[in-house]
Amino acid sequence: AGGQLVLGIETSCDETGIGIVRGGTVLANVISSSMEQHARFGGVVPEVAARAHLEAIEPALREALAVADVRLSDLDAIAVTAGPGLAGALMVGVGAAKGLALATGKPLYGVNHLVGHVGADYLVDTNAPDRAAADDGEPTIALLVSGGHTSLLLVRDLISDVELLGETIDDAAGEAFDKVARLLGLGYPGGPGIDRAAADGSPTAIRFPRGLTQPKDLAAHRYDFSFSGLKTSVARWVERQTDGAMEVDVADVAASFREAVVDVLLGKAIAACQDFDVPRLLLGGGVVANARLRAVAAERTEAAGIALRIPPFSLCTDNGAMIAGVGARLVAAGHPPSALGFGADSSLP
Ligand code: KG4
Ligand code: ZN
Repeated sequence: AGGQLVLGIETSCDETGIGIVRGGTVLANVISSSMEQHARFGGVVPEVAARAHLEAIEPALREALAVADVRLSDLDAIAVTAGPGLAGALMVGVGAAKGLALATGKPLYGVNHLVGHVGADYLVDTNAPDRAAADDGEPTIALLVSGGHTSLLLVRDLISDVELLGETIDDAAGEAFDKVARLLGLGYPGGPGIDRAAADGSPTAIRFPRGLTQPKDLAAHRYDFSFSGLKTSVARWVERQTDGAMEVDVADVAASFREAVVDVLLGKAIAACQDFDVPRLLLGGGVVANARLRAVAAERTEAAGIALRIPPFSLCTDNGAMIAGVGARLVAAGHPPSALGFGADSSLP
């Protein structure tokens, strides 16, 4: 297949990702995660993540070049996540990318991490079982749910027109899974543990609050999310049970909590599809691994006549291929490279 040969570097959180694409095809997607080093802290520790990137980035680069069977001199461009993310973590990737660009003379592109997530669905990963990519050129609503972000985007054009409709005003959805899992003693990361426990529970056992869905909230926060109230509500419920010497039914709590998160995420995403008359919904981010989220998304989008797009899981979580993919599009669209002086911007809009 033809297209631009682009290297992508992703270090915004705890995954060191090096991807290589040719046009819309993934040739290599090497990921080295420092997740295990954060487990005992119950969340990503920025300093630990940055040091891990520094150690992992060079071997990951060598591996990606070997897997793709290309040399640095073959590249048309280098792309790197410029933000948003953890400042120290981002700096490792941006520094490495600048060094490579200087040494090879290749053009360098700073890429927005969130645009990278959306762009993942426009790639064909020939190594993934579910390899279909869908770029029909039509606008789409994108819901990005991970440990670091919960964002609803209107994507009219991946490169030139991505509008942030709303985002979490406190915890990210994945963060809520991690915190509640910790509370219930289900380990870190929390999502998989909650999923396992919830399989034996009832989603309607406890009615936990749906953040920012009351009429008074909707006026200012129609597409925003809030999960810290939900987390507190779960904590209080567990406390009350324990104080009353009642047994905590972990399965019911997990299932009911998960239901509240899924309900709000999809309710708002589908409302956005309807408000903007865009009958397409794309899901991305680590929380997309959630079994209930996937099932309810399929049900509700079908009922609403909305086409659902979920990239293969290897492209849902943080990875370098999605950054390389955006880079390839930037090159193809004739965008000038970023000036070498650009920095890492932890709060890049
Ligand atoms: O995208 P990701 O791998 O990394 C970033 O945060 O960028 O997402 C990690 C998050 C964690 O908070 C984890 O608990 C959550 O994704 N997660 C899940 C599941 N698997 C991972 N959340 C819900 N259900 C899951 N099965
Ligand atoms: Zn991410």
